[in-house]
Amino acid sequence: MTSRSDRASDGWFLVAAGEPLSGTVRVSGATKNAGLKQMAAALLTPGVTVLRNLDPVVDLDVMLEVMRAIGADVSWSGESELTIDATGPLVPEAPYELVTQLRASINVLGPLLARCGQARVAMPGGDNIGSRKLDMHFRGLETMGAELEVVHGFIEARCNRLCGARIVLEFPSVGATENLLTASVLAKGSSVIENAAREPEISDLAAFLNRMGARIFGAGTATIEVEGVESLRAVDNDVMGDRIEAGTLLMACGIAGGEITIEGTRLEHLDMVVRKLGDMGLAVAPAPEGLTARCEHRLRAVDVATLPYPGFATDFMPLVVALLATAEGSAIVTENVFDNRFGFVDELNRMGADVRNEGRHAVVRGVDHLSGAPVRAQDVRAGAALVLAGLAAEGETRVLDPHHVDRGYPDLAGKLQALGAPVRRMREGVGE
Ligand code: UD1
Repeated sequence: MTSRSDRASDGWFLVAAGEPLSGTVRVSGATKNAGLKQMAAALLTPGVTVLRNLDPVVDLDVMLEVMRAIGADVSWSGESELTIDATGPLVPEAPYELVTQLRASINVLGPLLARCGQARVAMPGGDNIGSRKLDMHFRGLETMGAELEVVHGFIEARCNRLCGARIVLEFPSVGATENLLTASVLAKGSSVIENAAREPEISDLAAFLNRMGARIFGAGTATIEVEGVESLRAVDNDVMGDRIEAGTLLMACGIAGGEITIEGTRLEHLDMVVRKLGDMGLAVAPAPEGLTARCEHRLRAVDVATLPYPGFATDFMPLVVALLATAEGSAIVTENVFDNRFGFVDELNRMGADVRNEGRHAVVRGVDHLSGAPVRAQDVRAGAALVLAGLAAEGETRVLDPHHVDRGYPDLAGKLQALGAPVRRMREGVGE
């Protein structure tokens, strides 16, 4: 199995423009946005959980270390299957060195409080897409009876058994909904989470918890009800397909043209992105195991505003800016979820794009063509956007700092190659 240090090794993506895309590709499991959360949820039960459809992306390697530091015995039991023995005893502490590498490690807070009655989790910092607060996580857990304080950079939380409560979120935060859901399943009495996040990854987490014996109703809607139970049992679970990877491949078809089939994803998880891409001129239709996409002409510019699910996902924003960079006409892109997600625009402009950003908005004027250049990935989706831009650029594009992309895409170059795109993941001293 590839080790973390191998995966994190630098290098670059080498991208060129090629023929229109064609062929069929299967998406990976949603390791980063669903799998990591289900790993944390496995801490709720003293038993052996098996999670399938996971890939050894860097973020999973970090989560693995977090889980081991807590006392869970975690190992790969198959190509994409992870076995988590959380029999314990657990040490309810997530160390600073790991939490700062992986924000999703904050997801152990809810399960540890529910199972151990205490947790000590390093405060994660901000990151390249803006400040990311935890106030809703804290307030929700306090409403359920936990006491929390930040001491020397650590969140120190304790409780007797958590009590079911009605929690109204100020904003449908994905992370807060997940932490409150995993905290409430073993609470005394019933909980209601209002204005809950509706992302498919929340429904996937709730389905997993229900298979463990939890009683969760309404996941995927804005009101989630949870009847607390006394205990959960360990089960096997298949993690959902990665809708963000699927959307990335759809966008690759939009930028390079062609006709492709994407398997392992569900069209309804991509409703809004498919609608926007349709307005831009990319035709998407359901297929037996996923969907097909066809793009025969240069795309048309369309305004885009990100919103929580089922709105246009913020993860797709950098990618759609790359598409709009060579579309016909001008568009305004508005980022409503994170406060600082346009850092990649300067890199795109180095390739000849005409994007002006001010605050939460960017004006993208489509140009006839981009020109390949060395550019730097700043976060996972921004890096993927630069790879896609390279597909529409004359000459060679090198996307440096590719480890950002590797965090969320197990094999972006391989997936694009399968569709005929000339993209290679070069490694220092190794070639590809
Ligand atoms: C998750 C996803 C990320 C996606 C995002 C929104 C993972 C690993 N990451 O991130 O890919 O882009 O959902 O769909 O699954 N906020 C607060 N207070 C809080 C919590 C959040 O103000 O207590 C703010 C954040 O600063 C941010 C916004 O709410 O501006 C959205 O955050 P959230 O939905 O929690 O995103 P994550 O769970 O961090």
